[in-house]
Amino acid sequence: MEIKISKTPPLRTKTACLVISVYEKGLSDPLLKELDQKLAGLLQQAKRHGEFTGKDGEQILFQPAGHLPAKRVLLIGLGSKAESTPEKVRQAAGSAMQQVTEKKMGQAAFTLPLGAKDSDCVAHLQATAEGILLASYRYDRFLGEEARDSRKLPKSVSLLINSDHDKQDCESALARTQKICRAVMLARDLVNAPGNVKSPAYLAEQARAAADESSLQCKILGQEELIKEGFGALLGVAQGSVREPLLIVLEHRGGNKDEAPIALVGKGVVFDAGGISLKPADKMDEMKMDMAGGAAVIGTMLAAALLEIPVNLVGIVPAVENLPSGTAYRPGDILTSLSGQTIEVLNTDAEGRLILADALTYAKRYEPKLVIDLATLTGACIIALGHHATAVLGNDQKLVQSLLNAGDESGERLWQLPLWDDYDQQIKSDVADVKNTGGRPAGTITAAAFLKKFAKDYRWAHLDIAGTAWRDQNQPYIPKGGTGIGVRLLVAFLQKLASEQ
Ligand code: BES
Ligand code: MN
Ligand code: ZN
Repeated sequence: MEIKISKTPPLRTKTACLVISVYEKGLSDPLLKELDQKLAGLLQQAKRHGEFTGKDGEQILFQPAGHLPAKRVLLIGLGSKAESTPEKVRQAAGSAMQQVTEKKMGQAAFTLPLGAKDSDCVAHLQATAEGILLASYRYDRFLGEEARDSRKLPKSVSLLINSDHDKQDCESALARTQKICRAVMLARDLVNAPGNVKSPAYLAEQARAAADESSLQCKILGQEELIKEGFGALLGVAQGSVREPLLIVLEHRGGNKDEAPIALVGKGVVFDAGGISLKPADKMDEMKMDMAGGAAVIGTMLAAALLEIPVNLVGIVPAVENLPSGTAYRPGDILTSLSGQTIEVLNTDAEGRLILADALTYAKRYEPKLVIDLATLTGACIIALGHHATAVLGNDQKLVQSLLNAGDESGERLWQLPLWDDYDQQIKSDVADVKNTGGRPAGTITAAAFLKKFAKDYRWAHLDIAGTAWRDQNQPYIPKGGTGIGVRLLVAFLQKLASEQ
């Protein structure tokens, strides 16, 4: 699907579907008045009947039957202008894109929000393009040619900007957005890939491919090296699978040579059956998404390279499979982690924190100025926040606050949970330095309290994306399946940080 910018006025644009986004009470906009005239008062009529007033989520489709160059007109509501956010624009564009696709319209032209401030143009263009591009994602590589869902996608979409908007600014905003969305889609592809395809080696291959097509450096530590270095916690988890564990390391050198990097660490459990503490069969298939943190890291690294964000980054993805077998680790085992701290394994299904412990320790070698990890770590996080927010916890409030801000900006919202020392009680072990479960109360927090013990030497934040990495129902711009969560959040975070340096 091609996406381009056009300065042709909406009512003179020849298109299969003219999509116009309208604020509530925005029906008096001159463009809509003119449109209403051409449609012989249909718009006013729709307003009178309460069918379309510009409320958030409203949509109405007209067939102007020859009165306009456009074959169809789709109005989408944005809700109150005073309370408008980029997220509403993104969602409206995504829903419209779903209609255009379902009805096989083949082509469409989108206006930016009518009556918005000119200074918001670039932000609105980015949000609209994100909504369109992200809604156009399909994971259909295992479908036959006939069944391919992507066949319904429009061939091209134009974004209509006002004649007084700077086309150059808009073009470069669009180019940036396309790079970000490509990275999100890479993350989604990785998450959606089935477990039989997605070995740790496959993840590493994909990371290497991302490096090959960009300026990223890629290094893979194999099992031999992990044994030699002493990644005891990671190796414990991996030993139930015949697939060899790997540590994927990507580097982006966009900043000054001597500048300390930011480390991004992502949980890469390619399939989590729970190990000997086996999960129930129901929905176990979804546990192919247990590498979504790793996917977010690989995606963010690619985006940072494509966008040439002027910071140094290192992305670390421990990639393993958690299966029960005759060689699997068991409840009661005591592992010696890379940090030297010993861990009593009480539940082999609490594997994410084990591989992250070693990855967080490894991150120290890069003397990072801060570390952010992302992981589908706890079912408890879904109980606490559902699917609408990622949990954030950390040892540095300034870092947490910057991430919260990036969450609001990107629409990938975060909610902070406390990380008081009081919770450390729950993970005290009688026989080792720490145990890998803290019981049912505050499961997300005790998981983070566990990680905290391996992230002592730097500013650190942990993002639990268990509820946000996977959706089993379509959202306006997120088709069901892997969401690619974390990429847009971290890009927003890194861009802000780079702009402040
Ligand atoms: N990958 C799971 C967490 C998860 C659950 C992610 C549902 C996404 C959806 C993790 O490895 C896990 O199994 N956690 C256990 C921890 C418990 C044994 C302490 C959990 O949440 O039940
Ligand atoms: Mn698990
Ligand atoms: Zn897991």
